[in-house]
Amino acid sequence: MAKRNIVKIGDDILRKVCRTQLTFDEKLHQILDDMAETMYAADGVGLAAPQVGILRRYCIVDIGDGLVELINPVITEQSGTQTDDEGCLSIPNQSAPVTRPMKVTVRAQDRNGNNIVVSAEGLKARAFCHEIDHLDGVLYIDKVQKTV
Ligand code: CO
Repeated sequence: MAKRNIVKIGDDILRKVCRTQLTFDEKLHQILDDMAETMYAADGVGLAAPQVGILRRYCIVDIGDGLVELINPVITEQSGTQTDDEGCLSIPNQSAPVTRPMKVTVRAQDRNGNNIVVSAEGLKARAFCHEIDHLDGVLYIDKVQKTV
């Protein structure tokens, strides 16, 4: 495994729409392993492929209860709302309140291409939403609560 550089705000790559991941091979596994090492080293709870310069639809999340790898994730159900401070490894030393669904269900594939369905609530649901947004070039700062 190897740590990778995290792309920072201002780089166009963070604003691109990522393409579907079609191959589930050793190369993908290597990148996923590197992403996990990179995320843990940066003390993050999630990381999306474009943040390491790869314009493909996958991301990882670990809020402290185990690593989740989501390849080609789609949010299929959501309910409730939560508003809390959110940050991003690509936007260092900043956070701001964002409203997200309280619960989400995500359909995706695992690293071997098997279909999976993962449900989450609270911080984990927030992390899923944040990372999946990255795959469409959306950053949390686009969604920050406007104070009245
Ligand atoms: Co982020």
